[in-house]
Formats: sequence, C-alpha cells, structure tokens
Amino acid sequence: MSVTVRAAAKINLRLDVGPVRADGFHPLDTVYQAIGLYDDVTATKAEAWTLELTTHDRLDASDVPLDERNIALRAAVALARHHGLDEAATVRIDKSIPVAGGLAGGSADAAATLVAVDRLFDLGTSDEDLLTIAATLGSDVPFALIGGTAAGGGRGELVHPLVDHGTWWWVVVENDRGLSTPAVYAEFDRLGAHGRFGRREGDDLLGALATGDPRRLGEQLSNDLTDAALSLRPDLRRTLDDGREAGAVSALLSGSGPTCLFLCEDGGHAQAVRLGLTERGHARVSAAAAPVAGAHVVTY
Ligand code: C5P
Repeated sequence: MSVTVRAAAKINLRLDVGPVRADGFHPLDTVYQAIGLYDDVTATKAEAWTLELTTHDRLDASDVPLDERNIALRAAVALARHHGLDEAATVRIDKSIPVAGGLAGGSADAAATLVAVDRLFDLGTSDEDLLTIAATLGSDVPFALIGGTAAGGGRGELVHPLVDHGTWWWVVVENDRGLSTPAVYAEFDRLGAHGRFGRREGDDLLGALATGDPRRLGEQLSNDLTDAALSLRPDLRRTLDDGREAGAVSALLSGSGPTCLFLCEDGGHAQAVRLGLTERGHARVSAAAAPVAGAHVVTY
C-alpha cells in the first residue's frame, strides 16, 4: 500500500517583513504563488517511520537530514500522534526543488507527507487540523497545502486563497550554493530596514493579478529580504541583472534566496529568456508556469 503526493515550490510575489517579534520570527505581509516545480512524496506502510531521499539532475541534497530532524518525517510523526496511530510508514522524497533555495522545498515535502500519511491510513484529517499541524512544522507549510496564489500573514502561516485566473511564466535560476533563511533574516535585522511593512495603502498587486498582464504584475513585485540577501551574496546582483538583460519583464529574489526569478510574457518568451540566461553562463535555469495546485495525490 502506497500513496504518492506531489507538492510545489513557492515564490513570494510580495514579501513585506516587519521588525523581529519576541519569539524570534518576523511578521510578514506576503502573497505566495505556487510554481510548477515539484517534489513527490511516497508513503508506504512499514514497521517503523523511516525516510528515503532521491534527487533529480544535479541537485545537491547533502544538507538534508535523513533522521528525525527531517521536516517530512516530523510531519508524519506529528500527524500520527494527532490520531494516536500505532502504525508507521516509509516516507520517500523524490526531490526536484532546490535545497535552501528560497523556494520552500522542505515545506513542500512536509505538506505532501501530511496528505500522503492521511490518505495511506485513511485518517480523514479535517483541513483545519491539517493547516494547524502544518503551522507547527514551519511558516510556509500551510501554504504548501493550499497552493495556488494566497495571502500570508502572521509569520507566514496564516493563509487565505486569492483569486488568480492568470497564467504566469517564470524563469527560475538556481544557485550552486544555498542560503540559510535565519542568516538572511538576521542580516535583515542588522541592516534595520523594514520597508513598507504595515504601511501599504490600497493593493495594486491584487489588481495586477486580476488583469492577467505580466507587465502590470511585474511593476508590483517586491521582496524586503532582497538587500539582506544581496549583502550576504553580492554575486546575486549579477544574476538579477543578467535576467533583465535577457529580456525578462521583471526580476525578483525568491523568498530569502538565492534562487532568482524572472517574470516573462508567456511560455515562448520564457524559453527565450531561459536561453539568454544560459548564454550568460547560468547552468541551472528552468521555466515554470504558475499558479499550480497545493499538495495533491498523484498515485493511490
Ligand atoms: O518557520 P520556518 O521554520 O520556516 O523558519 C525558519 C527560520 O526563518 C526561523 O527560525 C527564523 O529564523 C526565520 N523566519 C523568521 N520569520 C518568519 C519566518 C522565518 O524570522 N516569518
């Protein structure tokens, strides 16, 4: 008995970050979007909770823990405890989302695991309980469950879906070296810049989403962690410039980085921008459409 669940990478179309809270987290006003880059998680009944990991292409997963510290395994055990379940499973992650890339790959694995374990043991967990357990695992895990395009508040864990009928095309430039999310937030604190957090009037981003026009959306993209990430990794500035030179509508750092994102006009334009970035020496460049679904069963 096996269940395979697919979960997508996330990006932030807006990432407004406020001053650090007493609990060490930062308040966020964000708009998430799930993009067509996925990890698959397969849960198979077994004697004990164990983890397996396979990776695609040149993806470096050497920093992913394979023991109980792994967020997918923590998700499985949290759900089992919630139900008092005395059975176990092997959780196999088939990884395509870059590790420590600012794309919430670990959160995708956790969300996919929650759904896979729920289905495997026919637990019938309510959406509300899944979202609550997801929030205990990490700030981005609730969004990985719902996918699509969504607003995020709190430390990112409070999500509600937004209407987004557009088809948006992104070129994604991965980086050989990951960037630690806590390190980027610490640098953000050190720089003392809190952008527009809590001071937005009106919401032009939601208006731009409704137009389906990439040029309108491109004008509204923003990420308060950009200066902090560039301070730690000045080389990313060149990547962002290369994408603009290659003709992208807009350039954006993904979450805490180092992945860089380039909004394009359509699928054909994305292929042209992808080629332009490859010609400028970037090796790990792909194109992805968005928004896509949250964690969903693909094989049962
Ligand atoms: O919630 P998650 O485990 O993904 O957060 C990882 C780290 O990122 C936190 O320990 C914290 O340092 C930082 N973080 C933050 N504010 C947030 C989300 C994450 O400071 N809203």
